[in-house]
Amino acid sequence: MIPGEEGNRKVLSSHPIAGERGRHMGTGAEEIAVTGEGDDGMKKPIRVAVTGAAGNIGYALLWRIASGDCFGTNQPVILQLLEIPPGMQRLDGVIMELKDSAFSLLHGIVGTDDPNIAFNEADAIFLVGSRPRTKDMDRSDLVAANGPIFVGQGKAIDAMASPNVKVVTVGNPCNTNALIACANAPSIPSRQFSAMTRLDQNRAVGQMAEHAGVPASKIHDVFIWGNHANTMYPDPRFATVDGKMATEIFDREWLQGSFLDTVATRGKAIIVARGASSAASAASAATDHMRDWWQGSNGRIVSMALPSEGWYGVPEGLVFSFPCRCENGDVIVVEDLPVDSFAQSKIDENVAVLLEEREAVSELLGS
Ligand code: NAD
Ligand code: LMR
Repeated sequence: MIPGEEGNRKVLSSHPIAGERGRHMGTGAEEIAVTGEGDDGMKKPIRVAVTGAAGNIGYALLWRIASGDCFGTNQPVILQLLEIPPGMQRLDGVIMELKDSAFSLLHGIVGTDDPNIAFNEADAIFLVGSRPRTKDMDRSDLVAANGPIFVGQGKAIDAMASPNVKVVTVGNPCNTNALIACANAPSIPSRQFSAMTRLDQNRAVGQMAEHAGVPASKIHDVFIWGNHANTMYPDPRFATVDGKMATEIFDREWLQGSFLDTVATRGKAIIVARGASSAASAASAATDHMRDWWQGSNGRIVSMALPSEGWYGVPEGLVFSFPCRCENGDVIVVEDLPVDSFAQSKIDENVAVLLEEREAVSELLGS
């Protein structure tokens, strides 16, 4: 329970979607008493917080979570949705639509502009809320606008979330925002914080599948090193295409040229074409990221940006995308892959950019 909020919450929960700009709009989530796996195989509900819930990514992501795509079809969820005050009316509408979708796994919805309420006892958190860039910006240009958001949210996660919470940061620049949130949540182990490079991995899969003329399901183990920025390296060296090595199917010129460039600059291309930043594909990637973390990656390599523990010589603490496998709720960095000179130069380039970003936000990292 949230200190000092108990009375307030009870009143508001019994008035679902009060109509006025509530700090907390509930569907009675607090009253639901599910204590364990039931006869129907259903598990106890988990609390899933999503920030920026009334934004474009939120509008796609919430439906994937509520349908069971992320946490499993026997895992009920209570959605705890955070917005800023100007977004609360839109959030009202989103909550109405979620209710109107009649998801059997959706056991409660909380809508709030208070991070302490949104993150209360949260088992999984999607940090989406923040400003997207426009076509004349780089993602790193958002550090000044978005970085401070992750100070308060990191502190609220520290104070309120489940000690086992899993956090994925989507809001850009996501690696450095994850670093800020992690630094402001000292009681939560850093391995529980991550940033999303799964969209970049999925883009790499899409490009390979199209180039080879096979469905995406035939592409395995292509992954991303580094920063969710133009410097990222989609590493094809261990990837397979329908069981054959990608490096035998595609020539080096394409892999180090237009494949790499297309993946690294896809975000800008989408902004130019749509007039808005990627949203449905970002929500899909966030679902994939958390699903694999929660349910396992079945032996496959997946890309997750994690606070480095010195892996591959990346300075400790930098949030850097590595090849990972997920098992039993844990992420394991695949530590024994050989690094050739091209890969090393890309790793070094990303380290340099992330060190610069870390320096730029040093005053947001606490003591
Ligand atoms: P959007 O503008 O449609 O929605 C953002 C929402 O966040 C808005 O509703 C806004 O009110 C809310 N918000 C702003 N500050 C907030 C705060 N402090 N707390 C809670 N909510 C807050 O943007 P979007 O298209 O949903 O994109 C969100 C972010 O995700 C952007 O930073 C974008 O660049 C990033 N993004 C990252 C990836 C990735 O691969 N990592 C992919 C796509 C987009
Ligand atoms: C993306 O990769 O689509 C997002 O990070 C949006 C952006 O600014 O590129």
